[in-house]
Amino acid sequence: MTTVVSCVNLKGGVGKTTIAVNFAAYCGSLGFKTLLVDLDPQTNATFSCISPETWDAHVKEKGSVADLLGMRNHTKGEGKSISAADVLVADVFEKVDLIPSHLDLFTIDLDIGSRVSRETLLKRALKPVMDDYDIIVCDCPPNLTLPTQNALAVSSHFVVPVSPDFLSSLGIALLLTRVNRLADELDCEIKNAGIVMSRVGRQSLHRSQTTASLREEFGGLVIDTEIKDRSVVSEATARNKSVFQMGNSDAKKEFEAMSEELLANMDLK
Ligand SMILES: Nc1ncnc2c1ncn2[C@@H]1O[C@H](COP(=O)(O)OP(=O)(O)O)[C@@H](O)[C@H]1O
Ligand SMILES: [Mg+2]
Repeated sequence: MTTVVSCVNLKGGVGKTTIAVNFAAYCGSLGFKTLLVDLDPQTNATFSCISPETWDAHVKEKGSVADLLGMRNHTKGEGKSISAADVLVADVFEKVDLIPSHLDLFTIDLDIGSRVSRETLLKRALKPVMDDYDIIVCDCPPNLTLPTQNALAVSSHFVVPVSPDFLSSLGIALLLTRVNRLADELDCEIKNAGIVMSRVGRQSLHRSQTTASLREEFGGLVIDTEIKDRSVVSEATARNKSVFQMGNSDAKKEFEAMSEELLANMDLK
């Protein structure tokens, strides 16, 4: 059984992409065959792994996640649907493949909003490659529109990165309610693999109260390891590297410990 995990939060800038990318890289380094799926039209996960030039050439020739979700030229050759294997970029990190995103996703709700089974397009597109992977990590946009719904519809688990400032913690209860409701409506089961405190230490409003109240409210769901705000983390993104390739042992240890906790919560350790 392939474990599929989505990184979700209604807010942007809380570390979703950073956690998705580095968790995927860590899984690959452990020997898990891993697929990272970028479902955010902002394409941040994509550009954390490959350069804009590589992306441009790839999407022109092979396509992106937008094609899997039925946008643009969603059939190829003689009416054959595009599958995940057609659009992936192999080996962006050790044992990690990437399905890149595309700015086209910004209008997806207009494009495919009236299609039957529009929430399960990704699930169907991934089916042929599902058995090739031990784990699939989906990076979602900061909302619950169709790309996120498609990610959740194929997921066995979800992770919620939270930046410990007052405003970013407000929406967590709402998010959990919405994810559960969506799972009900799609008749699928999805487990919370953890809430990750991310970017801890940057300027934030009422930080310590927020951290304490999150732990109080969500208890065991909150991952023990906190990801600190470190320049090496954003530097890694800019250099298409994972945190583990940056030679900073503090950052490496933190992402390792956080990933180990997530894996344990997903029964993979
Ligand atoms: N632990 C961290 N330390 C320093 N910068 C970080 C850290 N986590 C994320 N960032 C930076 O913060 C910004 C937002 O993070 P990102 O992961 O893209 O959030 P989201 O996907 O939730 O919008 C990015 O520029 C990213 O490089
Ligand atoms: Mg992001």
